[in-house]
Amino acid sequence: MKEQLEAIRTQALEAVAAAAASAELESVRVRYLGKKGELTAVLKQMGKLSPEERPVMGQLANDVRAAVESAVESRAAELAEKAMEEKLKAETVDITIPGRRSPMGHKHPMYTVLDEIKEIFINMGFEIMEGPEIEQSAYNFTKLNTPDDHPAREWSDTFYLDEESRTLLRTQTSPMQIRAMEEHGVPIRMISPGRVYRKDEVDATHSPMFHQIEGLVVDKGITMADLKGTLNAVIREIYGPDTVTRFRPHHFPFTEPSCEVDIQCHKCGGAGCPTCKGEGWIEVLGAGMVHPKVLRGCGVDPDVYSGYAFGMGLERLAMGQFKISDLRLIFENDTRFLEQF
Ligand code: DAH
Repeated sequence: MKEQLEAIRTQALEAVAAAAASAELESVRVRYLGKKGELTAVLKQMGKLSPEERPVMGQLANDVRAAVESAVESRAAELAEKAMEEKLKAETVDITIPGRRSPMGHKHPMYTVLDEIKEIFINMGFEIMEGPEIEQSAYNFTKLNTPDDHPAREWSDTFYLDEESRTLLRTQTSPMQIRAMEEHGVPIRMISPGRVYRKDEVDATHSPMFHQIEGLVVDKGITMADLKGTLNAVIREIYGPDTVTRFRPHHFPFTEPSCEVDIQCHKCGGAGCPTCKGEGWIEVLGAGMVHPKVLRGCGVDPDVYSGYAFGMGLERLAMGQFKISDLRLIFENDTRFLEQF
């Protein structure tokens, strides 16, 4: 029996040392120490021993069990450590691989132009005001001295929001002239940029939604000379110091006199080319002296105060500045386009 126990010790310790994974180690443990294991089998024969031999063999069997148990325990710890090391090695992060950049957005080209224009006006002492896109027709038309039969009031031209044609999507930023005078009072010097809506089919130069910048100056003694001086200065800031302008008579219901302002085509110098559609001139804004009726409607005495107003299209400005040929590109938000600015 002594030889049997010693053989079990030797074989078990070898097997434990050779176990390469924890599952294998477990089956070694079961084979030698389990209920049906080899050591148990030997112990079952203890009854056959003489009373003198029994305690000696019992002691030896206990020693063997303890030795194998502790060998299994320390091998298990070794294997666990090895497994952890392998796992860590497999999961190492290669910090030399360049990181994946998350793409940074940037300002839309049209808003870059808008910010430049705001800057120009702020430097001239103008305030920036914003107003509602859902507007009352009283503000969009009536208070702007627009006759009841004016074509712009037609349902075919304007997005109305009720059967009575009382609410609409503003067709121009001009209602902000009224809101500004009513809420702020005079004297006033403001610009108001924002979205406007018209029932236009989409093509290279039209969209049912676009942007305008409205301007209004009302004070004592404001004349057409102020209008021309200010707008010339602004246009030269935007288009360059040598830009030639032309003030052409026009009609708007809310200004009298009214004009449209053109710049001489910078491409052909006025001779006519595709950029200016052969005209030699490019229209950039509408303007005029605020109609006395409009002033009076806002509680401003036209015998004391006078003013000028102007409105310009923002998309056209951005298209000119960035040489964009198709308006649709501005709204499609295709990053291949936007990334160029
Ligand atoms: N609201 C006009 C339009 O959409 C543009 C305009 C013309 C605005 C003359 C003005 C102005 O303030 O004085 O066509």
